[in-house]
Amino acid sequence: MRKVTASAPGKMILLGEHSVVYGKPAVALAIDRRIACTVSPSRELLVNGHRASGSIAHPHIKSVLRDNGAANVSVDAVTDIPASSGLGSSAALSASFSLAVRRLFGRETDEESVAADAFNAEYTAQGRASPMDTSVCTHGGGVALNCPIGRHIWSFSRGGNSWDVTEVEVPKMTFVVGYTGIHAPTGPIVERVRKYKERNRFASDVIDEIGAVTLDGVQAMARNDTEELGRIMTQNHKLLSILGVSCDQLNKLVNASLPYSYGAKLTGSGGGGSMIALTDRPEQVCEAIAVRGGVPMVVHTGEPGVRIEDEQD
Ligand code: PMV
Repeated sequence: MRKVTASAPGKMILLGEHSVVYGKPAVALAIDRRIACTVSPSRELLVNGHRASGSIAHPHIKSVLRDNGAANVSVDAVTDIPASSGLGSSAALSASFSLAVRRLFGRETDEESVAADAFNAEYTAQGRASPMDTSVCTHGGGVALNCPIGRHIWSFSRGGNSWDVTEVEVPKMTFVVGYTGIHAPTGPIVERVRKYKERNRFASDVIDEIGAVTLDGVQAMARNDTEELGRIMTQNHKLLSILGVSCDQLNKLVNASLPYSYGAKLTGSGGGGSMIALTDRPEQVCEAIAVRGGVPMVVHTGEPGVRIEDEQD
């Protein structure tokens, strides 16, 4: 039976989460943790061997199938990206699944088509999203949104916002991710920020300020100025806390990492999930995170994007 396996990397948001939903600048980096989807024809929708046709579960998978005029496949996903950890598991699933489905049904497999499917899947599942996670999980390396830097790769518009996505040079960097173990789905937190912003002028100012520090951070990364980049990450964390998307455990892990890091911040939607620390002392940071009850993992930048791993007829 015909089978296609495609994989995509997870990601971390270096700077600019939440404000990017409103068209502000952001930068995200692919990480060396991946998800692989094996897809084959099937009479009904099977996800890891379980029937999924009638249920409301698996919105990303269903969105990608709809966009490709396909109803049923069997998909088996193998991942080393923890779910709801802020490390892009749903974006990586959407991108790898889109590429595998497109190849299986003989459709275009260019990155832009995959990124469009994956963005639509995230947007549909979350109710509101930027194309940041899906762009970096598709393209790999590093991508910037609405930053005047790098090579243009694609643009997306949705819900009155538009994003110009560029590929940016990423120096070799080591990060420690600290997973809080707190399951924190993105949709409700994005919705909370939307309500806060609607009711409160101060929230809009914080979002603008996150956009401004992100631009400074992108310039620092381009100059390979690790110290300045770290300082800006920590500043970004403070602004995200003011926006109300951090939590005690994230703050604890950030504070524990700082003595051994250039900078640290929550990554992704917050409320739980993960934080990241930019460091050249990963062992000390891992230990500090573990002592405070977090799950540390060392990740590296420069990971390639979505790709076909295997095809069988
Ligand atoms: O928690 P994650 O990885 O889904 O991060 C979402 C990033 C946000 O900026 C909060 C939302 C978005 O779609 O950009």
